[in-house]
Amino acid sequence: MTKIISFANQKGGVGKSTLCIQMAFYLMERGHRVLVIDMDGQGNTSSRLARREGEDEAEYYGTKTSELFAPKLKNIKVMHCPYGMDLIHTPKNDPDLFEMEAIPLDQAINPRRNVFPLFPNYDYVLLDCPPSLGRKLVAALAMSTHVACPVQLSGFAVDGVEGLLNTIISVKNTLNPSIEILGIIINNMNSRSMTHLKALKQLQAEIPDLIFKHGIASRAPLDNATNLGIPVWKIRSGAASEAAREVKAVLNEILLRAN
Ligand SMILES: Nc1ncnc2c1ncn2[C@@H]1O[C@H](COP(=O)(O)OP(=O)(O)O)[C@@H](O)[C@H]1O
Ligand SMILES: [Mg+2]
Repeated sequence: MTKIISFANQKGGVGKSTLCIQMAFYLMERGHRVLVIDMDGQGNTSSRLARREGEDEAEYYGTKTSELFAPKLKNIKVMHCPYGMDLIHTPKNDPDLFEMEAIPLDQAINPRRNVFPLFPNYDYVLLDCPPSLGRKLVAALAMSTHVACPVQLSGFAVDGVEGLLNTIISVKNTLNPSIEILGIIINNMNSRSMTHLKALKQLQAEIPDLIFKHGIASRAPLDNATNLGIPVWKIRSGAASEAAREVKAVLNEILLRAN
């Protein structure tokens, strides 16, 4: 059975694209067949995965994500990325995809219907979600078997998680009863911040089973690697090996929870 994993949080900058990209590398290295669908109109994940080494801008071909919202789409063409994964891309700041926020709710299942025939070609489909609770997120959740939620701790982290879980549960109750919440991944944590520690305590008290055992601290090599479009474990430095260890622990926990 193909595992279809969404990386979701309505907040920007929490690590959705980072984890999606690093997971794509990780699964490829382990010999899995991987498709990434970039559901975010900013197109960050597409630009990192599609770019060849030494190139400034990615060159895209094939079907783009906004086209998946058509009522019936024949012949989806995926892009083959240099690292080996396939991609349904979103060009940088794609107005066509941003426009999909305005579609009626019942059309949010069009991408699932259109992409469904491709699933048997892959072991994993990874969906990088946009920073909103709108139609594109619903479309991603509607086709997912699992959802992983990276969270950055702040004074408002707990409120944000509540809103996100409510959206996931409403999709589960309507469009996709089989979706499973893998849990909340604490990313970019600063263990010296009182605000972070307080927010973490509150989350652990309210939803203990959903909080991942492993988390990721604020790690510059992870930022560097993702921006270069390479796995963090390919960067050679003392600081990078610590970052790689944390990232791999989280990726393994995602896979463990999904299997
Ligand atoms: N643990 C981390 N340590 C340092 N930088 C991080 C970490 N996680 C993410 N980043 C950086 O923070 C920025 C936002 O992350 P990103 O994955 O793009 O968030 P999102 O997709 O949720 O908007 C990126 O520049 C990314 O490289
Ligand atoms: Mg992103």
